[in-house]
Amino acid sequence: MELYLDSAIIEEVEEINSWGIISGITTNPTLIAKAGKDFKETVIKICEIIKGPVSAEVTCEDLEGMIKQGKEIARWHDSIVIKLPCNVNGLKACKELSNDGIQTNLTLCFSVNQALLCSAAGASFISPFIGRLEDINHNGIELIREIKEVFEKHNIKTKIIAASVRTPEHVSASALAGADIATIPYTLFDKLINHPLTEKGIEKFMSDWKKTI
Ligand code: E4P
Repeated sequence: MELYLDSAIIEEVEEINSWGIISGITTNPTLIAKAGKDFKETVIKICEIIKGPVSAEVTCEDLEGMIKQGKEIARWHDSIVIKLPCNVNGLKACKELSNDGIQTNLTLCFSVNQALLCSAAGASFISPFIGRLEDINHNGIELIREIKEVFEKHNIKTKIIAASVRTPEHVSASALAGADIATIPYTLFDKLINHPLTEKGIEKFMSDWKKTI
């Protein structure tokens, strides 16, 4: 499973990129607003840091606007993937953009049927939201598993991005459920790598080593 960072904050992108483990970035309008900088400048800067897909979401809700904005954003950089909502206009825009050779990520996916329709519209990526499903007491990891099973059964090439990832368990369970990618918030990366037994082990090795010198 590939790892993406879910952030639009340049310092966060630079820091996690320096770990050598991420192969893409996802953003959304909330994350862009939180970063507090110009949308276009931010996305282009991220594309210059990361070698891999960078998802940037349309903010127009009408079909014409969505398509126009999607095509415009796609021209900013070759790495850009256009994020569209899992609704009727999102499907139509997805078809149009993918016919033009533009990569798409269909976001806010909460069901297998949404994933099926998005893949039929030519989506490059689909983003099922684990955390937000759990917020309403549904099983987000089970949704990832089901979409994976359906995609495998029907030889569907759309890649599954486990999104709305909030805990270390979401990351490992997404990998086990067959997600192609997990997009992970900045603060979670520390929790994924740090382990008290690793820290304790390093301390012991170092104190034993120092006794020999
Ligand atoms: C993914 O593409 C989204 O940006 C993100 O994972 C949403 O996460 P949230 O539900 O924690 O806001």
